[in-house]
Amino acid sequence: MTLNKINIVAGLIVAVFVLTHTINHALGLWSLQAAESARQLFGLLWRNPIATWALAGALIVHLGLAYHAVFRRSHLRLPPWEWTRLIFAFLIPFVLVRHVTLSGVIPRVEGVAADYLFIIASMWLIDPTAVVLQGLLLIVVWGHLSIGFHFWLRHRAWYARSSPYLHTIAAGLVVLSLGGLARSVATVDALARDPGWFDGLKQRAFDGVDTTRAGALAETPPTVIGGLLALLAAVLVARFVRRWYRTRHGRIRVTFAGGRTVVMPVGATLLDASRTNGIPHASLCGGRGRCSTCRVKVTIGLDDLDPPDAEETRVLAGIEADADVRLACQSRPRRDVTVIPLLSPNATAQEARRPGGLEGREQRVAILFIDLRGSTRLGERRLPYDVVHILSRFFAEMADALVATKGATTPSSTATA
Ligand code: FES
Repeated sequence: MTLNKINIVAGLIVAVFVLTHTINHALGLWSLQAAESARQLFGLLWRNPIATWALAGALIVHLGLAYHAVFRRSHLRLPPWEWTRLIFAFLIPFVLVRHVTLSGVIPRVEGVAADYLFIIASMWLIDPTAVVLQGLLLIVVWGHLSIGFHFWLRHRAWYARSSPYLHTIAAGLVVLSLGGLARSVATVDALARDPGWFDGLKQRAFDGVDTTRAGALAETPPTVIGGLLALLAAVLVARFVRRWYRTRHGRIRVTFAGGRTVVMPVGATLLDASRTNGIPHASLCGGRGRCSTCRVKVTIGLDDLDPPDAEETRVLAGIEADADVRLACQSRPRRDVTVIPLLSPNATAQEARRPGGLEGREQRVAILFIDLRGSTRLGERRLPYDVVHILSRFFAEMADALVATKGATTPSSTATA
């Protein structure tokens, strides 16, 4: 399975969790009891050990691949949507770690009886910023998911048709969820006017719990956040070192259609070469090897390129590409190459699905020109209706003869024509 596919599977698992969590909050619009019932229902799924490990693994893989993507790119000149998605991807863990620790890990590990009411009350009455962060988390997570799904699917025909409805549903869910959260907080706020209410709630929740160990666990989020920041810094330093090394140890020239030549380090992709040098180049999926809009015809240096991997081969087969066509985002030349981008920089999803490209493709064809003797005089002397009728008969005769003979000139076909 390619990294792309692993990332999609991980993203889908996280998306299902986010969806259930969002619905859970949205039910707070109905009542706290409804939200608690949903929490218990979804808990049957997510508290199952297989689902728990699948979710934890998906989160780690998805985040790890975001770090990997930052490292792998040889430049960070990204379109705004990619920046937004990346920033959201790195923001999520920082906001999520504390929430997961307090409302997920501690209750499960230490046996705290944390129902929906207790979780909302703890957030609002102990640290109200946690509620604000929870709201922000919903927006950021849905923003990240929506962008991810959009750029994963936007070159598919069914998605183009249904995307307005899907976007409306996603936005509606977020609004309902924020509304549910706000309503739950307002209910808790009203209940907390009774001075002993929250203390009673805490006593029930922590009954029989080792509070020292629970307190120690509650201190872990800053350590995790520090680790994530250190990892990000390490990735950026590694990028810098790699760039320095490549600059010193190998640069090649890429010539584009029209004769423009740019110099780029070995190891960068052809799409990187375009982007770094401000050359407009289609890339609907953002360089993930899914959309094929970055396709190029390699006119010089094809043999020096590594052969396409399984995923690139599949995408190229999908557009019936000739042997000299490659995906610019997946090709990392080691020697000088000359390429012709095959789609216009603003290629649409529809164009992505079409085989060939601006330059077309070579194909052996036979073209037959037929002149109708006296056709000019015919047009001058006859009524327009008669001319159309005669021409239609003529075309029908020709077409029948061509279809019957499959275009081959044989004595019998000549006779038929
Ligand atoms: S940018 Fe989509 S396949 Fe290369």
